[in-house]
Amino acid sequence: MSDLPRLPFRRGDVLEISPAFRGLRAREPVARVVTETGDEAWLVSGYDEIRQVFADDRFGRSHPTPESAPRLSANAMMGGPSGDYATERAVHQRLRRLLTPAFSARRMRILSGRVQKLVEDLLDDLVEHGPPADLHERFSVPLPMQVICELLGVPYADRAKFRAMADAMTDLTDFEHSAAAQTEMNAYTYAIVRAKRRDPGEDVYTDLATAALPENEIARIAGGLLFAGHETTVNQIDYGVLLFLRDPDQLGALLRDPSLAEAAVEEILRVAAPSQHGLVRYAREDVEIAGVTIRAGDLVVLATVAANRDERVYDDPDRFDISRQIVHPHVGFGYAAHYCVGASLARVELTTVFRTLFHRLPTLRLAVPADELTTHHDRLTGGLTELPVTW
Ligand code: HEM
Repeated sequence: MSDLPRLPFRRGDVLEISPAFRGLRAREPVARVVTETGDEAWLVSGYDEIRQVFADDRFGRSHPTPESAPRLSANAMMGGPSGDYATERAVHQRLRRLLTPAFSARRMRILSGRVQKLVEDLLDDLVEHGPPADLHERFSVPLPMQVICELLGVPYADRAKFRAMADAMTDLTDFEHSAAAQTEMNAYTYAIVRAKRRDPGEDVYTDLATAALPENEIARIAGGLLFAGHETTVNQIDYGVLLFLRDPDQLGALLRDPSLAEAAVEEILRVAAPSQHGLVRYAREDVEIAGVTIRAGDLVVLATVAANRDERVYDDPDRFDISRQIVHPHVGFGYAAHYCVGASLARVELTTVFRTLFHRLPTLRLAVPADELTTHHDRLTGGLTELPVTW
């Protein structure tokens, strides 16, 4: 058996990342590792190195022989190659052209009043319910779900159905299970898109309904948006709340000065690591990064959570500090060509949450000891199973 470091790296506390990343980076910011499927890969854990790979179009998401390509995990969506090797770039450009205007920062700012109202309504319900409560289920989950449903034009009443599909899509161990869920999600969302042709609305699925793209591509985009639109944001809300609840000094600073909310959100996105899975790339030709030669067809794993705590660019990188000067923007939304399409939307939601939540409930605290919190370690996106709070 290989003596290379083996993924996934274990961590002790939900707010930490594995110390193995730091140890490896000190020796090799681009290091040979074995993934959880037993394949060999290059793990990129350094900030400069990860940005180099993100920005280099000799790396892609597809592979010329996908069936035999090395994999990061058994997850169908993010664990291995995706898309067609010959057409990947053209398809991706069409995706960006279609979605960038739909999720522009300007459009998202217009939406912010609506997000504020949804946040306040959810907090009203929470207060009416009274303590203790599961903040995850009563707040972190419904907010991004309601927002993405309105934006895309998906009935919120279907939430139990598409949430089950999204959960199954994150299965890390059973390829068939996550693949079937992805197919189901695409079919479900594509049916909604098709209905918009007869009954258009002011939403993104109506834009998709008239896009000059192959049907299967539209279905993939529609399904991907509903998935990406809530899974990740839910976790960032939970982890942001937890970071503040476990750091009374930072919470005090935010309560004294709510205008720190925007900076706080960037710091949450830097530090919060609900999942350590990483992003997948394949070299399309031989490439040299940080002195190592990555061969065409090799798997490259981008450990954004590690790069976000690179001690070579961040002072005291594990410390949550909302007054940190942003010299090196985090890579929590990726970087360059695939930079998160929903970044402005996520920022509007998170800023609204962290400007409002603790002012409304200044005595908010955990209702259980922190070491009793449990996570979805078997899921792609990770995250807390619940966040019991009181006030
Ligand atoms: C805080 C929440 C979020 C985080 C941390 C996040 C993170 C990311 C990251 C790291 C990538 C880059 C993937 C890569 O390079 O392979 C990405 C891409 C993407 N995200 Fe997000 N995301 C969030 C919210 C959203 C939302 C709300 C949407 C809305 C629909 C969204 C839609 C997308 C899409 C469509 C892409 C693919 C872009 C491309 O390949 O060009 N994300 N996201």
